[in-house]
Amino acid sequence: MDYRLSNRFLRLAVLFALIGMSLGYWMGATEQFAASPVHAHINLLGWVSMALYSLFYRVQPGAAHGWLPAIHFWITLVGLLIFMPALAAKLLGGPGLQAAANLGLMVGPSLTLLSMVLFVAIVFRATSQRSALA
Ligand code: HEM
Repeated sequence: MDYRLSNRFLRLAVLFALIGMSLGYWMGATEQFAASPVHAHINLLGWVSMALYSLFYRVQPGAAHGWLPAIHFWITLVGLLIFMPALAAKLLGGPGLQAAANLGLMVGPSLTLLSMVLFVAIVFRATSQRSALA
């Protein structure tokens, strides 16, 4: 069985969990909550979603074959790596950062949504009657 894609998503998921929880811990300790949406999105898109992608590819290793799952991985990662700094810059940055933040908030969330569109296609392909019977 080829678990490479599942493992890659799981490794990223635990790293994002550590980052997201550390940010939450810092927010609680300092009572500065302006970055709450960043914390929530790192935890939910980075930790929870990526852990679920990993689990899916673990129980359906056949679904990880081909170029579509590889593109799914990279679009998910690059999307979040653009989305989170842009959201942080939007919420915490000064006026000089707003133009870059706005651009990042167009690109990052679009890639994140596209990653879910790809995942829908991958799940439907893997759970089609033909694949299920194979
Ligand atoms: C060590 C673990 C964690 C700590 C210390 C922590 C801490 C915090 C703090 C201090 C807040 C802000 C509360 C406020 O605004 O009054 C918060 C909000 C939030 N957290 Fe966490 N958190 C942790 C883990 C998680 C995880 C694992 C998730 C999701 C999977 C999560 C999702 C959220 C959400 C959705 C919000 C609300 C954000 C908002 O209203 O904008 N947190 N957390």
